[in-house]
Amino acid sequence: MGNLENPTAKITIDPAFVVGPVRRKTFGAFVEHLGRCVYTGIFEPEHPKADDDGFRTDVLDLTKELGVSTVRYPGGNFVSGYRWEDGVGPKEDRPTRLDLAWHSSDPNLVGVDEFAKWSEKAGVEPMMAVNLGTRGPQEALDLLEYSNIKGGTALSEQRKANGAVEPHNITMWCLGNEMDGFWQIGHKKADEYARVAAETARAMRMVNPDLELVACGSSGPTMPTFGEWERVVLNETYELVDLISAHQYFEDFGDLQEHLSAGHRMEAFIKDLVSHIDHVKSANKSGKQVNISFDEWNVWHMSRDESKVPTGDDWPVAPVLLEDRYTVADAVVVGDLLITLLRNTDRVHSASLAQLVNVIAPIMTEPGGRAWRQTTFHPFALTSQNASGTVLNLAVESPLLETEKTSGFTALSAVATFDAEAKEAVVFAVNRSATDALTLDAAVGSLNASKVIEAVTYSNKDPYWQATADDSTSVLPSENVSVKLDGGRLTAALPAVSWTMIRLSLEDQVN
Ligand code: AHR
Repeated sequence: MGNLENPTAKITIDPAFVVGPVRRKTFGAFVEHLGRCVYTGIFEPEHPKADDDGFRTDVLDLTKELGVSTVRYPGGNFVSGYRWEDGVGPKEDRPTRLDLAWHSSDPNLVGVDEFAKWSEKAGVEPMMAVNLGTRGPQEALDLLEYSNIKGGTALSEQRKANGAVEPHNITMWCLGNEMDGFWQIGHKKADEYARVAAETARAMRMVNPDLELVACGSSGPTMPTFGEWERVVLNETYELVDLISAHQYFEDFGDLQEHLSAGHRMEAFIKDLVSHIDHVKSANKSGKQVNISFDEWNVWHMSRDESKVPTGDDWPVAPVLLEDRYTVADAVVVGDLLITLLRNTDRVHSASLAQLVNVIAPIMTEPGGRAWRQTTFHPFALTSQNASGTVLNLAVESPLLETEKTSGFTALSAVATFDAEAKEAVVFAVNRSATDALTLDAAVGSLNASKVIEAVTYSNKDPYWQATADDSTSVLPSENVSVKLDGGRLTAALPAVSWTMIRLSLEDQVN
């Protein structure tokens, strides 16, 4: 704990050590019918900046700037009680329903057609979840037919009559959500879920064998079901699905050093999950590789008042819920989590920051008013905008940190990407120390780097600074003037609690 004895971390970056490609799907997000994510988030027809479809153009612009690739929809816990048919057709005929997951009411003004249209405008790929809580394979098939069949069937013709002439061609589908969670509507035992997931996947593949299907993993690594759930579910579905989901949230309980160990804890979870997947692969002598869809991850201060759902007779539409305000330290953690996901690109093939707007989100809105960036927006946007090519496996020699709960984690968390075509390599680095600066000393000789194009660091004297609607810009990522490239050596001073990105221009590579 506390001071670093030798505050230098050494890394070696070599383009020969490839983990795998930088996957655009690592930069996914999530839009759930929860709080103000949809209503007054992406959709607010009365807003002065709303377009003809009622979508907020300020939110669309920020979504593009964030660099989001896929967006998971419509939940989350919400999906386990959702009737997708309520959200299609003339808006005046759509019913308002109770949303049991968040003790709210949903007027169903946004449904699959609106979400597909929003996705197109935002330049993102929709990732659809089906309800396996209160519903089953038939309703999943109906939604698939409605969404993806060109025409000539009852449901595809219904879609066309509703104004969506072209099919939505949604290829990524989640088979339910967090089905082992006691809070989930229609939650199931592992074998019950395994059966329904297998039946649903099999039937959906009869419509289109090329869909990318995601089975529900356990709701998190601390669930008593974690591990055994994966074993039972994958035993039944291994040959039918492509990915299994992982969900993990991190909370700051007041021990900053512990909070900053989040990336290390995520890494451990990924390794565990990979073991569970590969156990089933090996036990079943399968030649196929199932990978991970890390489709819910973020900092979420779950035990604070912001996450208290309405109770009793109060069933509001779009209440203020889960509107966590993020600190610079939270942003450093988010940056580290993204570094961790990239570092595991060989097994994490898709990921979704939960969520996109207002609900534990990088983008915030005022109803009728401004849209603004939280602290967590910055490391996500800069990573998404600049990581390209391949992810490199770094040799890392870092001092270790420890807390009462978490022992022996590296002060430095880093990853590098290498793009031979663009002649650029990028180093993303986090100093996880709550108290001490760290010197980064990188051997980069084999990169053949000619100069530093850009070096920025996100940190602040007060790591608890938060952005607000009135001041979201006084603490921004700023130039790190300490960064030096001298021959084959790159050095940088990384302040305590900081996230850094260094872009290097490369000479032609000699093989
Ligand atoms: O993202 C908020 C909630 O967290 C989701 O609805 C649920 O899947 C998870 O428990």
